[in-house]
Amino acid sequence: MDFRMSIAEDIVSALQQVYGETGLSAGDVASAIEIPPDTAMGDYAFPCFRLAKTLRKAPPMIAESLKEAVSAPFLAKVEAVKGYLNFYIDRAVYAREVLSRAQKEGERYGGDDSGKGKTICIDYSSINIAKRFHIGHLSTTMIGNALYKLYSFCGYRCVGINHLGDWGTQFGKMLAAYKLWGSREEVEKGGVDALVKLYVKFDQESEKDESLLDLGRAWFKKIEDGDQEALETFEWFKRITLDDVAKVYDLLGVKFDSYAGESFYNDKMGRVVDELKAKNLLVESQGAYVVDLEEYNMPPCIILKKDGATLYATRDLAAALYRMDTYHFEKCLYVVAYQQDLHFRQLFKVLELMGYDWARKCEHVSFGMVSYEGATLATRKGHVVYLEDLLNKAIEKARGIIEEKSPNLENKDEVARQVGVGAVVFFDLYNNRIKDIDFWWDRALNFDGETGPYVQYTHARCCSVLRKAGECPSQPNFEGLADPEAQNVVRLIEQFPDIIQDSLERNEPSLVTRFSVDLAQAYNKFYYERRILDDDMGVRAARLLLTDMTRQTIKTALALIGIESPEKM
Ligand code: ARG
Repeated sequence: MDFRMSIAEDIVSALQQVYGETGLSAGDVASAIEIPPDTAMGDYAFPCFRLAKTLRKAPPMIAESLKEAVSAPFLAKVEAVKGYLNFYIDRAVYAREVLSRAQKEGERYGGDDSGKGKTICIDYSSINIAKRFHIGHLSTTMIGNALYKLYSFCGYRCVGINHLGDWGTQFGKMLAAYKLWGSREEVEKGGVDALVKLYVKFDQESEKDESLLDLGRAWFKKIEDGDQEALETFEWFKRITLDDVAKVYDLLGVKFDSYAGESFYNDKMGRVVDELKAKNLLVESQGAYVVDLEEYNMPPCIILKKDGATLYATRDLAAALYRMDTYHFEKCLYVVAYQQDLHFRQLFKVLELMGYDWARKCEHVSFGMVSYEGATLATRKGHVVYLEDLLNKAIEKARGIIEEKSPNLENKDEVARQVGVGAVVFFDLYNNRIKDIDFWWDRALNFDGETGPYVQYTHARCCSVLRKAGECPSQPNFEGLADPEAQNVVRLIEQFPDIIQDSLERNEPSLVTRFSVDLAQAYNKFYYERRILDDDMGVRAARLLLTDMTRQTIKTALALIGIESPEKM
């Protein structure tokens, strides 16, 4: 039952009865209905202030006049307080309705099929070839992954795109360096680190000997011209990078549907340039070709360099057109750090100027930086914090804690991985995405704080309660859930579908993360205050059902943000 809607319908007919036609629909009223911050003020509240003008009456009088006319079997009482109508739902009915729905919908509870037939492109992680995956890439990867799951949960078809950074003059330098100083065995063995080393060496050497730069340019030209050796070697560099990062993606449980990156658009930019020309948007500026954006208070968007080479933005334009043609997206999300705010504002503006009204369907989902124990982005005393190392260390630490807390656990390695990785991901997705994050071990792995392990532990606690209780033969007596602690849990479970909708609307997975903490805290309070295995079997059954739906909701919430829920910890 949708309490909010039923109350709204009741209010509309009460208004009708007392004042005649007001033109308000049940939908209008439903969206005005608030949830009071404290249950003492009711479960729902309708503010009468906006009606004051139309009805020419003071809000407290309106509330008073409607009070008697609103009645529904599930309402325990209705009060008029300071211009608000406060609704108190019968506790037992409320618990029954919410928990039955959650139980009936099972693992699907919280989602819906509002996105049916619509496609969402999500560009996330989007790594650069021949660079190690470091802590700075965590947010794009995990926010993108969470959005992918959240949209899918609501029926959308999602296309996860890893827009590889696999184009640019640096790759010419890398090839030159490899030809000069590298060997197949060394790179095979050293992986991305060996490639990075070659690149660094090239930079150092070319400071002494400028002719190296020409060599780099020549190799880049070879890639561009499709020279077989150059292309094969470069493809091999790509493979090495992707194999390396695959280990991290596996640990994180992240997947992509497409790896079409910058180089994929090599043969698709002619169209962009031609179209821009035909639409009179391309102007020459010091030999380069740009789209002037002065009118929109932005620097020009450079499309072609002096030497005719294309840029990051050119490729992103081609990519946007390609994605629209190929996927007919409802939305195209770019999960990229806020440093690229300007790039995306320019990109979307150029698309708009090209006459594509779907430009508004493109959205930059930006986020803040990650630092590590107080040290700035990705570096610590000049060293980069690699994601793989961070995750492995998290697993190791989790393993230590498990060894200490539950030495008899069967699958310790598996649980250590779930808890360690979960702690890192949870930490990353806990705050509003635009906030900068400072990663600290003691904060991420604390079993008592607002952390992944704490929520996972609560899930395991629910599983353990249910295991110990075994089958309960009685039908639940929902009067057994009338206490405030149980009611708070019920209320959170009821809000879960709305939380998911909000997080989609704002592309903000942290709403789900926070929700999981709220639910875990509410359940733990209930757990400490009430005896679940009550002697009254009806009450016991109700409390077990509450426990089971908490378990289910936590598990779903964590899964949506990319975290597993072990049954024992
Ligand atoms: N590879 C880029 C970087 O690391 C991110 C690419 C984001 N996606 C895009 N379509 N521009 O900065």
